[in-house]
Amino acid sequence: MPLLLLLIALFALKACEGTSFEGYKVYHVTPNTLEQAKILNAYHYEEKFDFWEESHLLGDPSDIMVAPEDRPAFERNLTRNLFDYSIVIDNVERLIQQEKIERSMTRTMLAPGQVTFSSFMRHSEHMAYLRRLAADYPNIATVEKIGESYEGRDILMLKISSGPSETSTPKPGILIDAGIHCREWIAPPVALYIIQQLVQNSANAHMYANVDWYIVPNLNPDGYEFTQSNNRLWRKNRRLTEGAQCIGTDLNRNFGYYWMHAGASQDSCSEIYAGPEAFSEPESQAIRDWVLANGENLQLYLSFHSYGEMMLYPWGYAPELPENHEDLHYVGQLAATAIDQASTINSQYRVNSSAILLYEAAGGSDDWVKAEGKVDLSYCVELPDGDAPFFFMIPARQILPAVRETFEGVKAFHAYIEENF
Ligand code: ARG
Ligand code: ZN
Repeated sequence: MPLLLLLIALFALKACEGTSFEGYKVYHVTPNTLEQAKILNAYHYEEKFDFWEESHLLGDPSDIMVAPEDRPAFERNLTRNLFDYSIVIDNVERLIQQEKIERSMTRTMLAPGQVTFSSFMRHSEHMAYLRRLAADYPNIATVEKIGESYEGRDILMLKISSGPSETSTPKPGILIDAGIHCREWIAPPVALYIIQQLVQNSANAHMYANVDWYIVPNLNPDGYEFTQSNNRLWRKNRRLTEGAQCIGTDLNRNFGYYWMHAGASQDSCSEIYAGPEAFSEPESQAIRDWVLANGENLQLYLSFHSYGEMMLYPWGYAPELPENHEDLHYVGQLAATAIDQASTINSQYRVNSSAILLYEAAGGSDDWVKAEGKVDLSYCVELPDGDAPFFFMIPARQILPAVRETFEGVKAFHAYIEENF
């Protein structure tokens, strides 16, 4: 009997520990020839390689996480093809453990409905904050449940508005979401900071005088909670496609504009699994349904991701540019410059179309919102990872500098919308 108990205890311990990345390394690989770019691109579709950040521009590095058992063959191939590469994380698990220790030290007990930018909050705390604001500021803030995640968590949107337009032209709207990729922890705090600055800092009241804001701070709550408790590097949602082998769909490959056209996979175990069909997932459906029902006067869409300091605009599905690409570039550059100038963590944004700067990847929310949601200005914002390469594990003490500088970019976007619509 004691042996059985011991086994149960060991099992329970193992289960709380979650997935370990002991011995996993991250490689910084730079393609310098077209041939090398092609080889790198092929890795993209292999499920065992996790591209943390990538670019297919010659001379631009990608960060690729590789499991211990796959490393020998991977390194051999890099060497054989004369790749320029280095190892930037020697042991991913160590970085995760370090973050955990820091987290246990910075974690403060939040009073119900409060927000903090000195530690990472849980999903229930995000939602409690939105509900509290709606209760405390009923004249400007309303909360709407736009959907429910697969595991039944609320997907809430906060609307910030000074009321309906007094003229015959409706007010322009700005739609923001964060957390599509749940391991990119800096994204939800950025959305929450925008909310806090608009609602609770009266110096910013002019920002919602003539523009309505619709902000969804956590679009993938199941995945987010999973990164908190089980697997720090989870990227997808948590639904198992019927008959599939692995859990999770990449929500940023699941939107229905040129779905599966490029840069997406039908292998459920891949990090870029697009799902069994476009909009198969409750989380992507939530945004789609809201935009189709309420998106008429949206003029700007921002989807927050990390990392890489990039202001990306459509198209993602192919290296083609939308008709208004000059505006997209110009406005993106305005925001990028505002952020760079305010940055205390050395952020330096690049601005470009995502298929040109990164790689072709169809099914992204930015493409769909622009094409089908008819929002002319649509961006995927790749936030910074701190003042040193922290990748997804940006330290809690750098949340505040990151969210503050990003808000300067949001101000620049807002000023443009206010002037031009
Ligand atoms: N890193 C993001 C992703 O892989 C970039 C998305 C850019 N947009 C796009 N439609 N491909 O999802
Ligand atoms: Zn992302």
